[in-house]
Amino acid sequence: MSDTNTFDATDLAEIERLTAKYPEKQAAVLPVLWYAQDKFGHTDPSVQKLVADTLNIPEAHIYGVVTFYTQFYEKPMGRHVLDVCTCLSCQVCGGYDILQYLEEKLEIKAGETTPDGEFSIQSVECLGACGYAPMLQVTNDKFVNHLTHKKIDKLIEALKAGKKPEFESNRMPQHENGSE
Ligand code: FES
Repeated sequence: MSDTNTFDATDLAEIERLTAKYPEKQAAVLPVLWYAQDKFGHTDPSVQKLVADTLNIPEAHIYGVVTFYTQFYEKPMGRHVLDVCTCLSCQVCGGYDILQYLEEKLEIKAGETTPDGEFSIQSVECLGACGYAPMLQVTNDKFVNHLTHKKIDKLIEALKAGKKPEFESNRMPQHENGSE
């Protein structure tokens, strides 16, 4: 992760490789923003401007994309970002109870980061895992499904200890015969 919001020659070469896949630079906004977030840890306004200038696209367009997807972080976040789904299916199955439990446990509200910089909590829209509600996503990566208070305790304990938590990986129906 870099502190200075600039792209070096290596970054620019990678961005060139990404944009070359598309007929227009605008179509490469998502992969370039992912690349930028990976490098800087977030896509705050300074990173949005950098991406806009690099792709020669209006900043307003980049802002629109970043603010549409909760997966893009508009400010520096904790080492672990816990996206608690509070959309309909998760809500009906206790998503807000899970969110409240997590907020009390970490002593922060959704949208905040713990003072030690370890955890951020976000309340997010549907993550496409409604059948496993209530669920959360850890730092744009693994899902933890069918949440309970006990599972939250185990998850936080594992992440704090730097361990790989026991993420759940439910097989999709099309994979049930063993095919991938
Ligand atoms: S409503 Fe939570 S994953 Fe769809």
